[in-house]
Amino acid sequence: MNSRMICLQRKPKGRLRDSFSTFEAKRVLNFHRSIPGYRPTELHNLKTLANNLGIQSLYIKDESTRFDLNAFKVLGGSYSLFQVIRNKLGLSDELTDFKELRLEKYREKISHMHFITATDGNHGRGIAWAAKHFGAKATVLMPKGSSEERLENIRKLGVEAFITEQNYDDTVRKAAELAKKNDWILVQDTSWEGYEEIPTLIMQGYLTMAVEAVEQLGDKKPTHVFLQAGVGSMAGAVSSFINQYYQNEAPVIGIVEPFAANCIYKTAEAEDGKLRVINGELKTIMAGLACGEPCPLAWNEIKSAASFYFSISENVGATGVRVLSSPIGNDRRILAGESGAAPIATVFELLNNNEYRHIRERMGINKDSVILCFLTEGITDNQSFKEIVWYGKYSTAD
Ligand SMILES: Cc1ncc(COP(=O)(O)O)c(C=O)c1O
Repeated sequence: MNSRMICLQRKPKGRLRDSFSTFEAKRVLNFHRSIPGYRPTELHNLKTLANNLGIQSLYIKDESTRFDLNAFKVLGGSYSLFQVIRNKLGLSDELTDFKELRLEKYREKISHMHFITATDGNHGRGIAWAAKHFGAKATVLMPKGSSEERLENIRKLGVEAFITEQNYDDTVRKAAELAKKNDWILVQDTSWEGYEEIPTLIMQGYLTMAVEAVEQLGDKKPTHVFLQAGVGSMAGAVSSFINQYYQNEAPVIGIVEPFAANCIYKTAEAEDGKLRVINGELKTIMAGLACGEPCPLAWNEIKSAASFYFSISENVGATGVRVLSSPIGNDRRILAGESGAAPIATVFELLNNNEYRHIRERMGINKDSVILCFLTEGITDNQSFKEIVWYGKYSTAD
């Protein structure tokens, strides 16, 4: 039998950056609040599922309704574009009002700004949405094998978008080349040497969902938080914030990736400070997590905040989607995309499969545990959802 899941424990080491502090998170939240149509996404409390899994509570921060875009990614896209445009217009960095940049007096200048990015779907959709709202141009590149549905959803926002012949990481390089050649602005959700300012802004943008979640939880402190990782930018920002917010009462943090693209797991395992790269097609139903090169800025936060690293099989991931779509008791039905469901899938496997009893023990998960997961997307590929839920794809035991 193939392994369904592997787990690595690593002691958090390093210093967390102030960029992801509570202060910064509240600033970012103020910006998102100024966008017309803003409302906090729901935090579901799946009581029956928690009861079945033998824990006190399972909370799910549901990003599938974020600005009607079906995923959290627009938080980073909108915040980074706002800051880049603000900077180019020479406006004060105290400014956090979205509407300010929509004033007639800036329209002409913004219309000449052209943004470019590479994406496996959600980030590009967020950038396209933000570019449209600010009146700028955008080009979005997607890796080979991307779903047509995801491509169309980006094109519908009125930007140029196409699928390349390369995998995700090479598509990022292509976007960087095009930006240089055409004097466009690259807004990529991963960093490299000399390219850190925009990825930091994108990561800060993600803090809104985390600060909303802790406010919604109130006095109920999470004991464990599970975060999915592609390049790790989201997990880096959120894990850093959660640690800084709860300080010495910070929860245990677990990072989740598919086996096919577990670059963060491999980096943690290597323990030599060097980032590990996964090459090849990175084929997984968890398309948003199909990234082979960790974001260096994100790894700095993750290594200082997280203590458990999971790689999960396609079967485990698919089970997460099925469990959420078929609730029992009064639990809310949740229509999740595969990347969105990955942390819940991991929790489900961890608590249901006795093979992983020792991991539960090491993590200190028991009947008093309060687990928080971020459902980062709703269904983004209907065909894949049908195959998993209706036709039972990836439902065998191994
Ligand atoms: C739905 C979803 N969840 C999680 C992630 C992972 O985010 P990151 O690449 O910042 O690790 C992505 C990335 O695209 C995504 O689309």
